[in-house]
Amino acid sequence: MTTSPTLANTREELSALLAPARRDGKRIGFVPTMGALHEGHASLMREAAQHADMVVVSIFVNPMQFAPTEDLDRYPRTLSEDLELCGANGVAVVFAPAVEVMYAGGFSHDSVRDGVTVHPGRLATILDGESRPGHFDGVLTVVAKLFGLVQPDVAVFGQKDYQQLALIRAMVRDLCLPVEIVGAETMREADGLAMSSRNRYLDPAQRTAAAVLNRALHAARERASYGVPSARWAAMNVLKSEPLIELDYLALTSVDLGEAPTSGEGRILVAARLGSTRLIDNMPIHFSTPPERSS
Ligand code: PAF
Repeated sequence: MTTSPTLANTREELSALLAPARRDGKRIGFVPTMGALHEGHASLMREAAQHADMVVVSIFVNPMQFAPTEDLDRYPRTLSEDLELCGANGVAVVFAPAVEVMYAGGFSHDSVRDGVTVHPGRLATILDGESRPGHFDGVLTVVAKLFGLVQPDVAVFGQKDYQQLALIRAMVRDLCLPVEIVGAETMREADGLAMSSRNRYLDPAQRTAAAVLNRALHAARERASYGVPSARWAAMNVLKSEPLIELDYLALTSVDLGEAPTSGEGRILVAARLGSTRLIDNMPIHFSTPPERSS
């Protein structure tokens, strides 16, 4: 059944809406988003409902996680459609604050440096953190603020942003935040492309080409029983077949984003540009040591 969620724009409105649930000892599930919601977000909302009595979604395009050269201004803002999707997925409260509500006095990269922020450490310097310096400081700072405002019992994040999920788990562990983190499966289009708000930037040719990311990850998984170099080679071959792709990184790692094990569970992650749109994807991968060749 579709019921409209209640919209809160200020901290005071949010806390007034959540007070009765807290008083009644209800479990609050939380899905932080930047809006431009799609079926991938809907699956996070449904996952949150499995772990909680009421679900809160935040919609906030966080300026701190965008470098001045990135797509903050053109990032899609679709609040009325977003509210409909939240309603159709049983969300009780949507928190959609203005920038000034989250960053007192407004946001600028200079002013935020004078305040207290979350510094994510070494894990944020590799992969997306290497390509987007400062990005994860912005993500963790806003997620910490949102956790402070919503005070959820459980928060759900997509595995599509695998490094983000790892860093949020690390922040919760290292800063002793009282919230359970759930990582939800990536939702995919029919051709395997991971759902993302940025997919809507792609023109038809780029949209067709984008499916190569998923094919490359699968090719690596199929060759992973021959070892890490073989899996990498298979993925690279597929990526090279698509001229519209400009590869940012292809990484084969352990499950916690360290060095890939010679055998056992790991992760394969890819980031690439199609025109000015940067897409990421990842999958679990099982490595084996290649069999000895008999002479
Ligand atoms: O994954 C996202 O949409 C954002 O990084 C998040 C977690 C909502 C923080 O702005």
